[in-house]
Amino acid sequence: MRYVIAFLSPAGSTRKIGWAIKETLEELGRDFILTDLGRERNSLATIENFTGGDPFCLFIGTPVLRDLAAAPVMSLIGGLNSAPQSFAVPYCTWGGVASGIAIYQMAQALLEKGFLIPAAARVISSHSIMRNIDNPLGAGHPNEEDEEAVKGMARLVVEAIDSGDLRSLDLQALDYPNPELAAEMKKKLSAPVPVTPKTLDKELCTLCGVCASECPAGAIVLDPEPRFGGSCFDCLNCFCLCPEKAIKLPVSLEKMIEMIRNRSKTFNETPRTVVLSVLKHDAEPI
Ligand SMILES: Cc1cc2nc3c(=O)[nH]c(=O)nc-3n(C[C@H](O)[C@H](O)[C@H](O)COP(=O)(O)O)c2cc1C
Ligand code: SF4
Ligand code: SF4
Repeated sequence: MRYVIAFLSPAGSTRKIGWAIKETLEELGRDFILTDLGRERNSLATIENFTGGDPFCLFIGTPVLRDLAAAPVMSLIGGLNSAPQSFAVPYCTWGGVASGIAIYQMAQALLEKGFLIPAAARVISSHSIMRNIDNPLGAGHPNEEDEEAVKGMARLVVEAIDSGDLRSLDLQALDYPNPELAAEMKKKLSAPVPVTPKTLDKELCTLCGVCASECPAGAIVLDPEPRFGGSCFDCLNCFCLCPEKAIKLPVSLEKMIEMIRNRSKTFNETPRTVVLSVLKHDAEPI
């Protein structure tokens, strides 16, 4: 069995977890590739070349963005061929507001393609919009304990595949645990929220190019000042990383942080990492 680790990680937490899985596969001597969707432009071709149409096991990670999986991750899954006898382990990192329906969304698309889903994880992380302030939601995560939980999950998955275990989680097990809130979140799937308009303060912009080089979608062209293109999936990396604060949104960062903190109180979700698995029933309700 070949293994693929694929993730998108504008701010680095989802990558950290991807690398923890990589370490586990290395320790177990497995044949794998790792593809970072924000740094490679054709992860799908990389996966197809590596797997050559044979069954494989895909670890796939996304940050939770406004309750959902990141659009490029869903596009990657959409582009995969149907994969009977293949396995998938969706994971998300979330910033202490609500873990959302990202793993549900990924699992739905993966199950439709015939993947079996032996496990999945929601990993608590420092909130990326709060990366430059003291005491962000999810501060200090993912930490060693979170990484160990994911590594343990990866080991169990490999063991199960080796032993021919074909059990899979069903979609319901991966849904947001509160049905009312889950239904609310799912409305966004049929009526997507428009991308936040971004404007440039030309007086402040020094044309340094940080925004363009750090955009995981390659959506910013320097012409010579930054222009925002259609592939933007609204991760706000450019806004957070601009050293001059030259990228403006309709809401200030301070206001946004206040709204995020208020929203986290509404959900009141315990900020912890949860591994869901058919292999070992260690999931606890949120
Ligand atoms: C635009 C945006 C929306 C977000 N929405 C949520 C959310 O709905 N719930 C949550 O808990 N965290 C949310 N976060 C925080 C991220 O999910 C979290 O920080 C994640 O670990 C980021 O992953 P990365 O470091 O790989 O980019 C959001 C972050 C951004 C930038
Ligand atoms: S990061 Fe900021 S200052 Fe640099 S090019 Fe982009 S908008 Fe301009
Ligand atoms: S343009 Fe900005 S918000 Fe859009 S994908 Fe790129 S970095 Fe993220």
